[in-house]
Amino acid sequence: MALTVIEHPLIQHKLSILRDKSTPTKLFKELVDEIAMLMAFEATRDLPLEDVTIETPLETMHARRLSGYEPVLVPILRAGLGMVDGIRALMPSARVGHIGLYRDHETLQPVEYYFKVPPDLAQRDVFVLDPMLATGGSAVDAIANLKAAGARRIRFMCLVAAPEGAEKLVTAHPDVPVFAAALDRQLNENGYILPGLGDAGDRLFGTR
Ligand code: PRP
Ligand code: URA
Repeated sequence: MALTVIEHPLIQHKLSILRDKSTPTKLFKELVDEIAMLMAFEATRDLPLEDVTIETPLETMHARRLSGYEPVLVPILRAGLGMVDGIRALMPSARVGHIGLYRDHETLQPVEYYFKVPPDLAQRDVFVLDPMLATGGSAVDAIANLKAAGARRIRFMCLVAAPEGAEKLVTAHPDVPVFAAALDRQLNENGYILPGLGDAGDRLFGTR
């Protein structure tokens, strides 16, 4: 399974506060950004570098910089938006695409309502962002649509994954590395992750 659970102590500490039902909206958003930023350090580990020659104040040296087109962050609306600022703090030149999807409450099937991504997707490293990987339907659909738009190098980043969703995603898209801060126990009958953190979109945007 191409799933990496990032068990860094700072991430686990912040995640425990995030899960707590008494954590207010402002802190929730800050923690999502911080965890996403820390996870990005691991998820970007294999970005390609190129050699460059630079002048330090003392001499000429050969150094390395990120090569090629700027990466693209693609949050799945709404909750994926919460991860963008934290990762952009590390990669300020990253482009940002958007995929609008919501889960139908009856069927749990994803319904797409928006798709806007930068050109030249085939040349770019694409990071799909969504805090929650539950049944996996939203992630599988989003990635299929990105591939149809030309994306070739895709990574998926979430905060909490359910075993059901992780299995579905790596089976549907075995070429896509999946990064999570936690792999939880199971889904409940409504498709919510247990123990989870509740409805990520509602907690981020204060809509409940
Ligand atoms: C949540 C979450 C994911 C999706 C995960 O979004 O942010 O996008 O559910 O569920 P799945 O793996 O079973 O597809 P939701 O549909 O609640 O929309 P929202 O972000 O607009 O609240
Ligand atoms: N979406 C959420 O926001 N939370 C879950 O537990 C499952 C799907």
